[in-house]
Amino acid sequence: MMSRKEVSKDRKVMIRPMTATDLDEVISIEAVSYTTPWSRRMFEAELAGNAFAHLFVARDPESGALRGYVCCWVVFDELHLMNLSVHPEWRRLGIGEELARWTLSWAREQGARSATLEVRVSNEAARRLYEKLGFTVSAVRRDYYRDPKEDAQIMNRSKW
Ligand SMILES: CC(C)(COP(=O)(O)OP(=O)(O)OC[C@H]1O[C@@H](n2cnc3c(N)ncnc32)[C@H](O)[C@@H]1OP(=O)(O)O)[C@@H](O)C(=O)NCCC(=O)NCCS
Repeated sequence: MMSRKEVSKDRKVMIRPMTATDLDEVISIEAVSYTTPWSRRMFEAELAGNAFAHLFVARDPESGALRGYVCCWVVFDELHLMNLSVHPEWRRLGIGEELARWTLSWAREQGARSATLEVRVSNEAARRLYEKLGFTVSAVRRDYYRDPKEDAQIMNRSKW
């Protein structure tokens, strides 16, 4: 049985900690979501070898199919949003927003008081999502990304 804290009020997905058994599905979404996707090894390292890292999957409450996932770090009082992805066929339905909002409130319970992330300047969907959540651009990192080379926007949010 899910506790109230595991689901949001207007629930589209069921959110649970990611485990190694989720990785086949996670990687299939990852591969089609980024030009330089994380490898299985990178996810495994986050899951097993990084004390700051927290990963969650969002699944359809009825079918159990994977809809998205998030990887974040909570470093003392700061949340770092490292990876947020939604299955391409299930985008624009509010799942990314739900998962991001859930992550913010979960992180707050863990003691996070500010949040930070990097996003490709061309990633309109993600930038709009983070703006909607109250993030603002604090800096630009020139040529931060490779393949293709591109600037990163650093976005921050505090007090939520
Ligand atoms: C970014 C991403 C996670 C958004 O997930 P999603 O479930 O489609 O987003 P939602 O449906 O919850 O949208 C929430 C808000 O984000 C913005 N948004 C999402 N997709 C958008 C798009 N294609 N164009 C413009 N705005 C968009 C809108 O503001 C939207 O609010 P609205 O519906 O009231 O207009 C998804 O596009 C994705 O997985 N992209 C590939 C991976 C990626 O780039 N992740 C971010 C790395 S920093």
